[in-house]
Amino acid sequence: MLEQIKKIKQEAENELKKISTSQELDTLRLKYLSRKGLISSLFSDLKDVVANERAIVGQKINQLKSDVESSYKELQESLKSDKETEDDVDLFLPGRQPFIGRLHPLTIVLDEIKQIFFNLGFHVEDGPEIETDYYNFEALNIPKDHPARDMQDTLYITEEILLRTHTSPVQIRVMQSQKPPISIIAPGRVYRRDTPDASHSPFFHQVEGLVVDEGISFGDLKGVITAFAHKMFGSDIKVRFRPSFFPFTEPSAEYDFNCVFCRGKGCRVCKNTGWMEISGAGMVDPNVFEAVGYDSEKYTGYAFGMGVDRIAMLKYGINDIRLFFENDLRFLNQF
Ligand code: PHE
Repeated sequence: MLEQIKKIKQEAENELKKISTSQELDTLRLKYLSRKGLISSLFSDLKDVVANERAIVGQKINQLKSDVESSYKELQESLKSDKETEDDVDLFLPGRQPFIGRLHPLTIVLDEIKQIFFNLGFHVEDGPEIETDYYNFEALNIPKDHPARDMQDTLYITEEILLRTHTSPVQIRVMQSQKPPISIIAPGRVYRRDTPDASHSPFFHQVEGLVVDEGISFGDLKGVITAFAHKMFGSDIKVRFRPSFFPFTEPSAEYDFNCVFCRGKGCRVCKNTGWMEISGAGMVDPNVFEAVGYDSEKYTGYAFGMGVDRIAMLKYGINDIRLFFENDLRFLNQF
């Protein structure tokens, strides 16, 4: 009997080594492990063994059974995983392309604007988009009945609370909380009651600039704006200032850059003028210094605005401001 067990064990081991398909494995299972298999028949033969050896022989058969079973299970697993790689994975399919996110063009341009002003010694300040009438108008020398309120059609929340129409209120907040010397830019979103078209949007982005110290002049303003124009669009771009009016600056100006498409020669985009309007600027009005408690005899300063959307449109040759806000991936994927 022990001989027979040994023989079956040997045989099973040899056969297990040769198995390479699940059909072969199943044949082996039927031969050894099924109810009519070789190992079961060993158990039936156990009754013929003399009583005092029965226990030890039984143990041997049990051992054989569990050995064959565990080899069987191992093989079954490995054949299964081979099968998965063969059948479920097509190595010739193109790989899955992960969707790569990217920065919005306005973010790219704003980062560039900030970097240029960092290098000129400015740092960034922030202010709320929901403002009070006081910061947006009153403290900027625009009293309630002032016609300049019509320059910017305002979205009111209540009579006193509104969506800021420009980033200039940040000038007031900064001067209220800091003493000169001040040298800041304040980027952010602003809102106006405009019907959207190619060049208007009910919200857009500005960068405010403010410098206050003793002895600051209009020449400093021109120098900084010119340095910015050269860094942003190239050193052949000229800058010009035209007299204008803002209640919070005196004197006030609007400033233009050479058209970035024809570099000043005149083309369709600049309507043959060679110039592009950028924004407003000027020397801080003494009334504004009064409102924040600065000594207007001691300090002078300049302020400027800048349209981020407009600069991005010039930089990338985009002719419709609405493209920035529609989130069309065909547009956004180009940057
Ligand atoms: N706040 C003005 C505007 O939105 C621009 C400006 C800023 C003008 C600073 C002068 C000084 O049109």
